Amino acid sequence: MSKRRILVTSALPYANGEIHLGYMLEAIQTDIWVRFQKMMGNECHYVCADDAHGTPIMLKAKEMELEPETLIEQVKIRHQADLDDFHIDFSQYHSTHSEENREISELIYNRLNDWGYIKKRIISQAFDPEKEMFLPDRYIKGECPKCGADDQYGDNCEVCGATYSTTELKNAKSVISGATPIEKDSEHYFFDLPQFEEELKDWIEAGHLQEQVTNKLAEWFEQGLQQWDISRDKPYFGFKIPGTEDKYFYVWLDAPIGYMASFKKLCDNSELNFDDFFNKDSDTELYHFIGKDIIYFHALFWPATLMGSDFRTPSAVFAHGFLSVNGRKMSKSRGTFINARTYLENLDPEYLRYYYASKLTAKIDDIDLNLEDFKKRVNSDLVGKVINIASRSASFVVKNYDKELSAKCIEKSLYDEFVEAGTDIARHYEARNFSHAMRLIDRKSVV
Ligand code: 2FM
Ligand code: ZN
Repeated sequence: MSKRRILVTSALPYANGEIHLGYMLEAIQTDIWVRFQKMMGNECHYVCADDAHGTPIMLKAKEMELEPETLIEQVKIRHQADLDDFHIDFSQYHSTHSEENREISELIYNRLNDWGYIKKRIISQAFDPEKEMFLPDRYIKGECPKCGADDQYGDNCEVCGATYSTTELKNAKSVISGATPIEKDSEHYFFDLPQFEEELKDWIEAGHLQEQVTNKLAEWFEQGLQQWDISRDKPYFGFKIPGTEDKYFYVWLDAPIGYMASFKKLCDNSELNFDDFFNKDSDTELYHFIGKDIIYFHALFWPATLMGSDFRTPSAVFAHGFLSVNGRKMSKSRGTFINARTYLENLDPEYLRYYYASKLTAKIDDIDLNLEDFKKRVNSDLVGKVINIASRSASFVVKNYDKELSAKCIEKSLYDEFVEAGTDIARHYEARNFSHAMRLIDRKSVV
């Protein structure tokens, strides 16, 4: 079979927080798959980047009295160190705040605009009169209009579960200044997603998504696709929209384009050709590993953006579930939030890689990091089996065979059995059923 040409991505971590073990689930899942592809002799490139734009990053920089550019540079260094120490073998790790990303984002936007996929209209939104900025829902708090609970976010109540619009919230206050938000009009730019409904349905029917994801999408199609607001007013940390003075691309427009930008950077420093991987008629493969919370962006907005700007669409989007710790959501207040660096300061990264591999399947079910189970598995599987076999074999070879391995295979049938098992193991790796692959390998290690 001829060598496959594959480009793989993991979702881009935001440049305002540390890498945690939830993100490591995705990075490790992707890295295992990429390493497998390379071992099979395929050409496989793995790119990622920091997701560096948006309101939270702008505000965090302000709070730290830094320029956003300085904050994102510092965070990127830490992200790369964490990922590197977990042996995540990127071909390229870049930033969405880069010239490559600006160039491709503008190109895509200009094509969408020229070809009639961008619509403009005036909308009214909550505005902080003190800070003179529009407020995303999470920056407004007040009393729930249904149950009266205090201190609830702008769009939903954590106490009674009600969803509402920020204008319904009682005694609403800006989280940033404490001021009462006012309603203010401004012109926004929308990507006309509904124009892609048929093309998206065809793309989804062609089988680029997992079954559970396809079912979820059917629900979204039933609810009807909406135009997507891709502009944000100043102040905003991002790229200015061409032809405007004070409008910026919403972070989620240029974030997935960051996949292309990172690959462009790789191409610029190598013999690789960008068009081979992104031209509409490309015969290469493109895969995005993501968490299930960002399916809407990757299975609807992203392919439609690519369709509308004449680029190839992904070969597949692979979503995984959330990570819980000891059966509970990762939470800072409950002490179950574990940063990658905290783990690395205490334990070997290979343990976590093995533990995740032993749990990962191709499904989007959540995965639990149970610390007792983690300890047991590392001790019984890795230390008790893998390390034990290697250490016992090594001492036989040293003591009984003068440190020399046999020149010929004396157990041909056993050797053949191992080699044959490789086909099944590879099938499970390819299908991202790493837990099955681990079980098969484990079974072979005790024959
Ligand atoms: O949800 C997130 O953490 C985003 N930063 C992921 C972006 S992935 C891609 F689209 F860039
Ligand atoms: Zn409520």
